[in-house]
Amino acid sequence: MDIGVIGCANIAMRSVIPAIKSISDFNLLAVASRSFEKANEYARKFECEAIEGYDNLIAREDIEAVYIPLPTGMHQEFVVKALQSGKHVIAEKSLGMNFSEVETMVNLAREKNLLLMENYMFEYHSQHKFVFDLINNNEIGELRLFRSTFGFPPLPKNNFRYDKKLGGGSLLDAAGYPIKAAQIFLGNNITVKASNLFIDKSLDVDIFGSAYLSGNSSIAAEIGFGFDNFYQCSYELWGSKGKITAERAFTPQPTFSPKIILEKDNDKKEFLIEPDNHFVNILKEFYRAATQRDFERHYTALLNQAKLQEEIRLLSTKNFIN
Ligand SMILES: NC(=O)c1ccc[n+]([C@@H]2O[C@H](COP(=O)([O-])OP(=O)(O)OC[C@H]3O[C@@H](n4cnc5c(N)ncnc54)[C@H](OP(=O)(O)O)[C@@H]3O)[C@@H](O)[C@H]2O)c1
Repeated sequence: MDIGVIGCANIAMRSVIPAIKSISDFNLLAVASRSFEKANEYARKFECEAIEGYDNLIAREDIEAVYIPLPTGMHQEFVVKALQSGKHVIAEKSLGMNFSEVETMVNLAREKNLLLMENYMFEYHSQHKFVFDLINNNEIGELRLFRSTFGFPPLPKNNFRYDKKLGGGSLLDAAGYPIKAAQIFLGNNITVKASNLFIDKSLDVDIFGSAYLSGNSSIAAEIGFGFDNFYQCSYELWGSKGKITAERAFTPQPTFSPKIILEKDNDKKEFLIEPDNHFVNILKEFYRAATQRDFERHYTALLNQAKLQEEIRLLSTKNFIN
């Protein structure tokens, strides 16, 4: 599949383009940037064509799919243009600024019969299958609560995550991971019951927050997220007989062995999971779903994720800071 990259982002250089290059089903044709110099720097490094201007890459008829690692606030414009020009799309998270944007993009993908996915790569790491096996082997008894946190210390002031117009804020960024993880373990029938966002008054951007999600009579999830937090990147499944903790749930590097901890019967076991490359795994799923035209499950995942993010925003008690 001939693929192009729209925006020479850090995440593209560090993780996604190397993953694309490692999969023989993909042929990286071109990278586009606002500046030719930057496109050229990436193109030389990754042995492909450099294109100045995102629209010029989208206009290329020989490109069948695009990866879009632009700030969230720019996704809708370029996702819509790419779908209109007949390309499958994998965009960075969060796909849209709100539910309505995501719904518009999903409706267009469906109308054009094209794949649209969001790059929540962590879901495709083998450590979660290991956790599911522990649960299915009844190691922790019945599930009582899911807890997950993703947050990190402040970013440089000029980072787009502090810019409201570009889709800034922790809800559209760090929160996406525990929200996705809650659905993986509790299913899709959950809604947000309570939430709290702490908003920087001068930036009008949420810096940290938390939420409580559950179905009508199902097990609940407590999640926390933020940009002004002690680093956390984990989830816990607390059961009637034990507890499982994934210590590096969302960001294990391809050479890193994440640790899964099982506590039960006054005992604590630690399992080191084989390194895995979730960026490669999600791209393989993108290729599979595109070539087998297996789109609906990905549209549903996009809508469910955006719905929960929207509910957190709408239900939130707004607390102003600074
Ligand atoms: N899945 C993951 O593991 C993961 C990890 C980190 C980030 N992300 C997501 O990936 C996306 C990019 O994040 P990043 O940290 O890689 O950011 P980044 O390095 O700042 O890249 C964003 C790119 O967007 C383009 N851009 C166009 N207009 C821009 C503007 N006004 N301000 C900033 N950039 C602009 C730039 O490309 P040109 O200069 O080439 O035009 C820039 O390199 C975000 O949606 C983020 O949520 C995902």
